[in-house]
Amino acid sequence: MAKNTLIIAAGGTGERTGLDIPKQFYVIKGKPVIVHTISVFEGMEEIDEIIISCHKDYISHTLDIVEKYGISKVTSVIEGGDTRQKSVYKAICRVSEDTDYILIHDAARPFINADSIRRCLIDASVTGCASVGKRVADTLKRSDDKCYITDTVDRDNLWQIQTPQIFRRDIISHCHEKCISDNVECTDDCMICERYGHRIKITEASCINTKLTDSSDILLAEAILGV
Ligand code: CTP
Ligand code: MG
Repeated sequence: MAKNTLIIAAGGTGERTGLDIPKQFYVIKGKPVIVHTISVFEGMEEIDEIIISCHKDYISHTLDIVEKYGISKVTSVIEGGDTRQKSVYKAICRVSEDTDYILIHDAARPFINADSIRRCLIDASVTGCASVGKRVADTLKRSDDKCYITDTVDRDNLWQIQTPQIFRRDIISHCHEKCISDNVECTDDCMICERYGHRIKITEASCINTKLTDSSDILLAEAILGV
């Protein structure tokens, strides 16, 4: 069976939520968001090890959380970087050599479910790259700079890309290194691999997989997970 390592991107400070702590540490239903998130992966036999890339000020807090909630698959909590890309790359450098696939997931996406992760793992085994996503449901408009509609965008085949994003270890580590040498900053790990010509399959999420971004998402999380 393939060896799968999960990287949790938890190096941000969650400015847009307006909370006084990074959103991944906000407690909902008695557990920090990051625990809700990791528990889904921890409970899957397909996941072998977990590396958390964390903001430097929260490393000891994260280690305490890992111990308190008995998350046994976490092998390291490392210092992240000043961008998500750097946080992920630092974790990639810590993944063990015998890992076949690397899963990259945002700490701030606590509603992920095992079914979406499993189907994404299967999709990644075909071309080496896959990402969970959601088809765009709303009608899309383009506007001018003054917010007047200029046209309607055809939404066929348009997706909101989420996480986890899953890659063969050699592909993702090679593409991250190329981005560093080419001095390119990408918004997600798919973009890093797209750039160098890799085909990436999209796995349709079978759950709400919202990323907690602003204060309304915190209310949503409390409504879904319970206060
Ligand atoms: N992230 C990270 N390292 C960074 C920045 C972000 O690992 N330097 C992580 C965040 O912790 C989060 C995920 O990437 O789990 C998605 O990023 P985002 O939603 O932008 O989170 P923040 O950067 O924390 O929030 P904000 O942009 O509002 O400050
Ligand atoms: Mg951010």
